[in-house]
Amino acid sequence: MSDAVQIGLLGLGVVGGQVHRLLTEKAMVIAQRGGRAVTVRRILVRDAAKPRATGVERSLITTDARDILDDPAVDVVIELIGGERPAADYIRQALQAGKHVITANKEVMAKQGPLLLALAREQGVGLYYEASVGGGIPLIAPFRRDLVANRIRSIRAILNGTTNYILTRMANGGAELGTALAEAQAAGYAEADPTKDLDGMDAACKLAILATLAYHAPVTLDVVYTEGIRGLAARDFRYAQEMGYAIKLLAIAQEQDGTIEARVHPAFLPAHTLLAQVHGVYNAVVVEGDLTGPVLFYGQGAGAAPTASAVVADLIGFLKNMNQEGYRDPGFLDEGTVSIRPMSKVHARYYLRMPVEDRPGILAEIARILSDGQISISSLFQRHIDQTARTADVVLMTQRTQEEAMQRARAELSTLAVGRESPGLIRVEE
Ligand code: NAP
Ligand code: HSE
Repeated sequence: MSDAVQIGLLGLGVVGGQVHRLLTEKAMVIAQRGGRAVTVRRILVRDAAKPRATGVERSLITTDARDILDDPAVDVVIELIGGERPAADYIRQALQAGKHVITANKEVMAKQGPLLLALAREQGVGLYYEASVGGGIPLIAPFRRDLVANRIRSIRAILNGTTNYILTRMANGGAELGTALAEAQAAGYAEADPTKDLDGMDAACKLAILATLAYHAPVTLDVVYTEGIRGLAARDFRYAQEMGYAIKLLAIAQEQDGTIEARVHPAFLPAHTLLAQVHGVYNAVVVEGDLTGPVLFYGQGAGAAPTASAVVADLIGFLKNMNQEGYRDPGFLDEGTVSIRPMSKVHARYYLRMPVEDRPGILAEIARILSDGQISISSLFQRHIDQTARTADVVLMTQRTQEEAMQRARAELSTLAVGRESPGLIRVEE
């Protein structure tokens, strides 16, 4: 066996700490399976004074990225600091310096992935990112290899563990969002700043990465319609259950008539469907290929060990590639551009919940606004009646209609709602 491959580790937090541990504890396995031994040469952190796990050699720690990026002895950079900046700059500089890179960074790969992969190709090095989507669930490799003969009809996925945990608590325990979030944080699932999870940004990044692989062309974050879970109320879950549905934060990419729609938003799913039964912090992805039909991926989409499993798998894959003379990892097959369907042109059925004054004629006014917008109602009921305040929730489902028409009607319906509140709107995915 030739000399050990030298690793520069950027980040020693939840994932970086676990990767570091595996590089020590599984050193023999990595060397046997990859065909080369590895050594951690340097570790970048933000705060050098922070206490670290036993086994971390303090002399390897630095707060200066140049100690890794400018060191010609470093062969592979493993980026686990997160966020777009400075991580994207470090990845670019590492590639430019002829180093191979492994990353778990969904934000960088969603925003700059195609450019960085092109740079890696130019430089003749590899950029690996299995851990960026779905933690320990194999997704990047299956899209690039096992599904590549397919035309991908659709991806329907639960890609964020934090929000799925919160939605599960809201559905099963009747908790409001704030309470469920506090529980998720206490259980260590949600980050101290869960903004990117709650607002759908985390799932949108992951969907952009998968859609780019599925459609062999860049699907960047800015074309993914993104709506988070903050608008959901505990009673939406009660009404959904009454009607035989679950509510999930769904990431959808699908092709129709040569255009791709890419969107992340809460959705009603029939309670018997696979995705409706994915609970807690678990993730699931259903891919519909023209040859395979539906294929399901399910597992832990976050957490130190599952994510480190994907990082170390990329490392072993890289070590094996290194031994194949002339092998160049393509990153993804870039076949040009895709045409994106704007959200306004998407068709769906809709659930609407609006608090109104409980008075004669209100239902007729709601029906008139929807009828003017050519929107057909498929069911309607009234709940949560407050006799004292003389208010009630009107809950209805529409037939399939265009988003544009629905949003126009929603704006008009808000003039009827108590406090002119915009009606709660959730798309229904059959
Ligand atoms: P984390 O616990 O916050 O750790 C970040 C690490 O990077 C820390 O060691 C921190 O240093 C270091 N760091 C942060 N900013 C830095 C900077 N500007 N310069 C130098 N060092 C810096 O993050 P994580 O949860 O391990 O996540 C790492 C990556 O994995 C992210 O891209 C994340 O999206 C991805 N990921 C995470 C999970 C998960 O379950 N956590 C799952 C899938 C993917 P200090 O230790 O000194 O603070
Ligand atoms: N914050 C993400 C989640 C984990 O809750 O799924 C990292 O991808």
